[in-house]
Amino acid sequence: MTPQPSQTKNLPTASSEPLKIVTQFAADLAPLTDLNALGDHIIQTLCHATAAAQGALFLLDREHACYRRANVTGPDAATLSPATLAANHPLPRHLLATNRILAETDAPDDLQKTGPDAHAALESMHGAYAVPHFGKGRLIGLSLLGATAASSPEAQTQTPPLLAALAQIATNALDTLIQSQDLHRSLALNKRTDRMKSLETIAGGFAHEIRNPLTSIKTFIQLAPERKDDPDFIQEFSKIVLGDVYRIEHLIQKILDYSRYMEPTLADEDVNDLVTSCVHFIDVKADSRKVTIEKTLAPDLPRVMLDRQQIKQVLINLLVNAVDAIGTQGGRLRVQTGKLVKPTGKVWVQIDIEDTGEGIQEDNLEHIFDPFFTTKPETGEHEGTGLGLTIVHQIIQEHHGEIRVKSSVGVGTTFSVSLPVLPA
Ligand SMILES: Nc1ncnc2c1ncn2[C@@H]1O[C@H](COP(=O)(O)OP(=O)(O)O)[C@@H](O)[C@H]1O
Ligand SMILES: [Mg+2]
Repeated sequence: MTPQPSQTKNLPTASSEPLKIVTQFAADLAPLTDLNALGDHIIQTLCHATAAAQGALFLLDREHACYRRANVTGPDAATLSPATLAANHPLPRHLLATNRILAETDAPDDLQKTGPDAHAALESMHGAYAVPHFGKGRLIGLSLLGATAASSPEAQTQTPPLLAALAQIATNALDTLIQSQDLHRSLALNKRTDRMKSLETIAGGFAHEIRNPLTSIKTFIQLAPERKDDPDFIQEFSKIVLGDVYRIEHLIQKILDYSRYMEPTLADEDVNDLVTSCVHFIDVKADSRKVTIEKTLAPDLPRVMLDRQQIKQVLINLLVNAVDAIGTQGGRLRVQTGKLVKPTGKVWVQIDIEDTGEGIQEDNLEHIFDPFFTTKPETGEHEGTGLGLTIVHQIIQEHHGEIRVKSSVGVGTTFSVSLPVLPA
């Protein structure tokens, strides 16, 4: 038998020893902790084992209730398969109902219930197999393998059990990794929530923050009687002291903002309108920094029950942070609204604020919502108190919404705020 060219390194060919392929596959997947690398390896191996020219791995996007194409292999994979499959698309629906690999060669009799549509969908995407990946009763993903080369009768009988074994290993690896990522995320969220609740943190932080300016004010008052005839001293020190007083005032205002924002008064509001007025608010600041603002508002946005003042505060805090992050070299600030349908069928509205600023260091990401966490200087134009995002987080929580952040150092940051559309 002539050896077939190998697509994946270290992998025996399909017609050689299936057991070796399976063991090798399991060993290769075990150390992978990056979902993208895992997905790549899975789709390449499944294609290789079935002699498919191309394949695409789709993963469940719970937030958008769809399956998103995450990894592809082969020349036409991206053109033959769509970027997303709705959760109620016949293909995932069929796989969810049967939890069996769907093959192009399945007899029509096998396709009784939801089958015929799924089979047609598979054909339209030039797929030979659709492989379900199940985790805890959920279809967490599916692999689409297409355009298999003509194979020997021996390979034809070997392929289905080999594919089934590989699919099982792939599913286990995907499920484990996705679950551990979910766990990590929810732990981080819990930690954050706990910190928010702690009034002690706020009080302690406040005390710490005002101690320095107070010390300097005290020193001035102590020294002033004996230095009252030294105009340089009086002039210099009064300037410093005045700055300190402003700083304390500023902090008090922020603390008041924070405590006032505990209970929102909800009213039925137009989010696009709100976004527009907040963007106006930072127009001047943005202009002076050569920041161009791009605003994209979804035309079909449902109205949302929210506290207008509070959500304004959220958006302005995020917009000001974005402009601060861009600094003086100029950049772009993109504000976008959109409608979101959760897997439960509930409708949410999302607002994205994306900047081309300095980005957030990985180590800082988990601290940005902490009270008094700031990377900005204490004084000057971009004076930071580190309470902006704490307030933002608190308000969003009170609205039963969500806030997420994605950032890449030197590239930029996107904050996404989403709010449930509650019945009026
Ligand atoms: N868009 C952004 N780009 C980069 N860093 C950001 C952005 N938004 C917030 N940060 C980081 O989070 C920190 C905390 O933000 P915030 O709570 O608003 O406090 P402050 O703006 O007073 O520093 C900032 O100091 C900054 O390091
Ligand atoms: Mg801020």
